[in-house]
Amino acid sequence: MINPEEFLKFLKSRRSIRNFLDKMIADKDLEMILEAGRWTPSAFNRQPCQFIVIKNNEFLQEISKTAIWGKFMKRAPIAIAIVGKIKTSPKWYIQDTSLASMNMMLMAWSLGIGTCWIGSMDREKAKELLSLGKDDFLLTILPFGYIKGNIPKPTLRKPIEQIKKEI
Ligand SMILES: Cc1cc2nc3c(=O)[nH]c(=O)nc-3n(C[C@H](O)[C@H](O)[C@H](O)COP(=O)(O)O)c2cc1C
Repeated sequence: MINPEEFLKFLKSRRSIRNFLDKMIADKDLEMILEAGRWTPSAFNRQPCQFIVIKNNEFLQEISKTAIWGKFMKRAPIAIAIVGKIKTSPKWYIQDTSLASMNMMLMAWSLGIGTCWIGSMDREKAKELLSLGKDDFLLTILPFGYIKGNIPKPTLRKPIEQIKKEI
């Protein structure tokens, strides 16, 4: 088991990264990120996630244009589209894909690889480019790359008194 203090420190150290080195992700690192996604819990263990690894730079440039607040994706060496197969888990595909994203983001951070959840995108256009259909839910496309420059300063969090309630 991981030391809990260390684990919390690790969670607190993670930042969204929007600048990446011009260096391909090592196969071993990519494998670790995908394994973290694969080992995500899912409702009834239905595992509705599919991960589309985008390595083709030309394609990455094209799909970056669909990311309204994520154009920086074009600077990443790879990106992974997180897809939920709606029919596999009609009630829980959003939760399952979200958890997979977080697992992959944390694994990336442990490897010195930065990423950032891209929420605002032209999903229909992105789905079309990825040849996805109506039964596919495109949660996000996560860009992954070794961190360029300084790690951004910690973002603020609400104080615990503001978000905790006891009954
Ligand atoms: C659901 C979700 C959607 C997000 N969408 C975007 C986005 O479209 N573009 C972007 O630059 N950051 C996006 N972010 C990143 C957040 O801005 C970031 O997580 C937040 O400011 C806290 O910073 P931190 O991740 O460095 O702690 C998103 C994060 C989440 C969880």
